[in-house]
Amino acid sequence: MTGIARSGRFQSGLSPNATQFLSSLAFDWRLMGDDIEGSLAHVHMLKASRIIPPDVAQRIEAGLLSIKEDWHQGRLEPNPEWEDVHMNVEGRLKERIGEDAGYLHTARSRNDQVAVDMHLYMRREGHFIKEGLLQLAAALSLLAKDTLDVIMPGYTHLQPAQPIRMAHYWLSYGAMIQRDVSRLDDWAARADRSPLGAGALAGTPYPSQPDMTRSELGFSAIYANSLDAVSDRDYLLEFLSWASIFMVHVSRLAEELVLWSTPAFGFVTLHDQYSTGSSIMPQKKNPDTAELLRGKSGRVVGHLSGLMMVMKGLPLAYNTDMQEDKEAVFDTVDTVKAVLGVLTGLLKTLTIHPGPMHQAALKEFSNATDLADRLSSSGIPFRQAHHRVGELVQQCVAQGYASFHDVPEDQWGQWVPEIPYAWLTELTAEALVDARTQTFGTSRDSVSHQWTQFQDWILHESTSPDMPG
Ligand code: ARG
Repeated sequence: MTGIARSGRFQSGLSPNATQFLSSLAFDWRLMGDDIEGSLAHVHMLKASRIIPPDVAQRIEAGLLSIKEDWHQGRLEPNPEWEDVHMNVEGRLKERIGEDAGYLHTARSRNDQVAVDMHLYMRREGHFIKEGLLQLAAALSLLAKDTLDVIMPGYTHLQPAQPIRMAHYWLSYGAMIQRDVSRLDDWAARADRSPLGAGALAGTPYPSQPDMTRSELGFSAIYANSLDAVSDRDYLLEFLSWASIFMVHVSRLAEELVLWSTPAFGFVTLHDQYSTGSSIMPQKKNPDTAELLRGKSGRVVGHLSGLMMVMKGLPLAYNTDMQEDKEAVFDTVDTVKAVLGVLTGLLKTLTIHPGPMHQAALKEFSNATDLADRLSSSGIPFRQAHHRVGELVQQCVAQGYASFHDVPEDQWGQWVPEIPYAWLTELTAEALVDARTQTFGTSRDSVSHQWTQFQDWILHESTSPDMPG
């Protein structure tokens, strides 16, 4: 079981355990389509540059196309005798066209080959992920539209702080997704480089034309330096850190959905399609999907730190350590795509309960800041007003009142004669949110404006030419 990477210098085969240990076939099989594309571009270049005879090039091309067809039809089986997907393509080619297959690897190494495969793979998956992000953004936008007039408590330290419109809350996640898309675009532009032609590390002595394969494969530029071309995994590390940040957003949102769907909050209900029961407690409805959305962030961040550790301290150029990039990246791609689908579905089917949110919005004295603001505007420093209202809260808590509105008017007059009771009736949750009229604030106009901007952005991104058709 030597595969075809062993030259004439070896006198024995690989030990069976080493063969298994070294093989990447179990996970790099998914690069088959990309490997064939890269190989087709390479053979076209070899032919045009007269590096190999034209009739040989034609046979290689026909052979690759027949392998590609079988791959698309699901008729191609991985052969474990060959240690990776690249060897599998070459091995199958040899079965089909004989020794001429051996010309394909002229002016190429598996080092630039695997790098170009990964670039092709990431570019395609990046597009799918962007599409998924825009669908998630659309789900958030719809929720925001439906909850413009739903008032809920806003929190800091997970303590009720000030009321907000629920739309404002959804749009804050919209803003995160906008940054995720923008970061993904930046990454895609930087990753848009072709390494093919760099050979093992130093280029090749053939009159090869890396710019020709670049053009056929649709990259904007070739790497500036061949050593960098074969040893660069920044684009994978960047993708993993992109995914980690995205998953942190997902996990924060998921945590809130878990909290808010408990009876203690009762703000939202997850659809049965996204909830499960307990195997022992018949009454239970658990937010497992939200929990797992939160939990999946752990593995993605883990993949980022794992690959960072793999790359740290590696001498240039290619080292087999780098084969470890694949499982981390593939699992991250699969996870992010699954997360996008589930989260979008969960949000689209979410039921909102405005009543409990509205009730909670003024509990725990969340109009206290506005009361202090009002007192301060009547001519005392804000700090003094802050202290005075704090004392008032303390008196309420001692008497068991959950909000200022629970205090009887005569009691209020004794406690804080300097604050007219009438102010209270003006400090409704609606009045509070509408008083914040800055563009990023909570007033109806501000939030509507934010929503329009967000919606315009989604439309613009969804119709941009680099979206898959
Ligand atoms: N399976 C290898 C990887 O995934 C392909 C490159 C092998 N190159 C080499 N010089 N051994 O990185």
